[in-house]
Amino acid sequence: RKATVLMDRDFAIGQTDPRLFGAFVEHLGRCVYGGIYEPGHATADEKGFRRDVLDLVRELGPTIMRYPGGNFVSGYNWEDGVGPVDQRPTRLDLAWFTTEPNTFGTNEFMDWCKAAEVEPMMAVNLGTRGGDAARNLVEYCNHPGGTYWSDLRKQHGWEQPHAVKFWCLGNEMDGPWQMEYKTATQYGMVAKEAAKMMRWIDPTIELAACGSSARNMPTYGRWEDEVLEHTFDHAEFISLHTYLNNYKEDTASFLASPDLMDNFIDEVVAIADGVAARRRSTKRMILSFDEWNVWYRTRRKRQDRVKEGWPIAPPILEEIYTMEDALAFGGACISLLNHADRVKSACLAQLVNVIAPIMTETGGPAWRQTIFHPFAQMSKFGRGKVLRAQVESDSYDSEYYDPRGSQEVSYPVTNVAYLKLSAVADENGGLSLFLLNRDIAQDMEVSIDVRGFGRLAVGEALELRHDDLSAINDKNAPDRVAPTALSGVVVDGGRIRATLKPASWNVIHLT
Ligand code: AHR
Repeated sequence: RKATVLMDRDFAIGQTDPRLFGAFVEHLGRCVYGGIYEPGHATADEKGFRRDVLDLVRELGPTIMRYPGGNFVSGYNWEDGVGPVDQRPTRLDLAWFTTEPNTFGTNEFMDWCKAAEVEPMMAVNLGTRGGDAARNLVEYCNHPGGTYWSDLRKQHGWEQPHAVKFWCLGNEMDGPWQMEYKTATQYGMVAKEAAKMMRWIDPTIELAACGSSARNMPTYGRWEDEVLEHTFDHAEFISLHTYLNNYKEDTASFLASPDLMDNFIDEVVAIADGVAARRRSTKRMILSFDEWNVWYRTRRKRQDRVKEGWPIAPPILEEIYTMEDALAFGGACISLLNHADRVKSACLAQLVNVIAPIMTETGGPAWRQTIFHPFAQMSKFGRGKVLRAQVESDSYDSEYYDPRGSQEVSYPVTNVAYLKLSAVADENGGLSLFLLNRDIAQDMEVSIDVRGFGRLAVGEALELRHDDLSAINDKNAPDRVAPTALSGVVVDGGRIRATLKPASWNVIHLT
């Protein structure tokens, strides 16, 4: 196959915000306990943080980290996770039917963020709790001192405020699986009142209201409209969540599915701008794609999600990612980059062990899953101005199966270009290209017109592919799927030419 691309340095979609490269740590399975935190592990530092995991996190390159949930936050009493560890209560967690020991909490998370060099993103419980607990948490975290909650933080050993800027107003509040989920009107009211009080305490914070927990929710669209009717003047962000699947073992449809993320983003932008129009407002809501990934093998089967007997940190949702997953995941990276004008924050869900790019063995080693690589490359090369590239490529039509609860639902995905691409120009005159060849059988010869760029030379050219699309990385073969050099990339007379292997993810960085 052949594809041509045309772009111009001056025609940009938007600048990528560093927060586009975020991830997520939830009190879920072995994400915290046995993941980022494992006192007694051979690599643990004096705070119990696994250094081997910290090294991989720095290599992965997330910029912001969402915490503490997820479904977990909707039943969480944040006060349980602060103060002397031996006085913290052990509680049942009704999100994942486990026991929460509370030996890791807000202050430990802030210390871990410093060690990992990431910004914290906190979610407040608007399920079983509400505005009062949320405002107290902001006071505990951000107020300098001289009040009950800020002095309690100091007494607990954290003299300086944590200065958390980004706050999520609850999690997936449209979902019946959520503790105390709500109608859009109920949630809109609660979120607005919480937001008001939180901002009265700290006017510098930024707030994200919950959008739909998936594009296939029955209330999708009406939910965003009603929630924004209440929160438009009180939040900066509206959230989106997507988990791509291949339940049907249909590779072509799976690789097409990131295009539905493009639709999802465009639709939420349209709804938010519609709310703005009704108010004759020039304000534009920004999107926070605060959960996204591939997730299906450990999703629908109850035994994969819930272990009997209320265990502490059981291995749940430990999705093992294949080469094929890395391709769909790469497509999702491109969808996010290509909406850099409106999506200014996004969180890969999650970070360690739980649907994660990093796996660990409790007491053992840590390694990179296949999806680690596209994310690390996006974070490394995706900083700059995303260009409005015109892609001419053959395309195909497919049907994507996206079940909702027990309902069988499919959506047509049409005009799926075999080449999915994003181009990012950096401030040093460099250009990074992210290219997904969705044709699983044929090479693709790509010719990219970069006439306006001056002299360019290939800095790095990498491909991620494997003859076996079901290939995985594991403890014994941690680099079975890893980037290798993409040979034959040529810059010639204002054109970049490359041949992409079938079913491959490719990154070309030019300087
Ligand atoms: O990331 C796993 C779960 O997926 C989160 O807890 C929840 O918000 C979503 O449904």
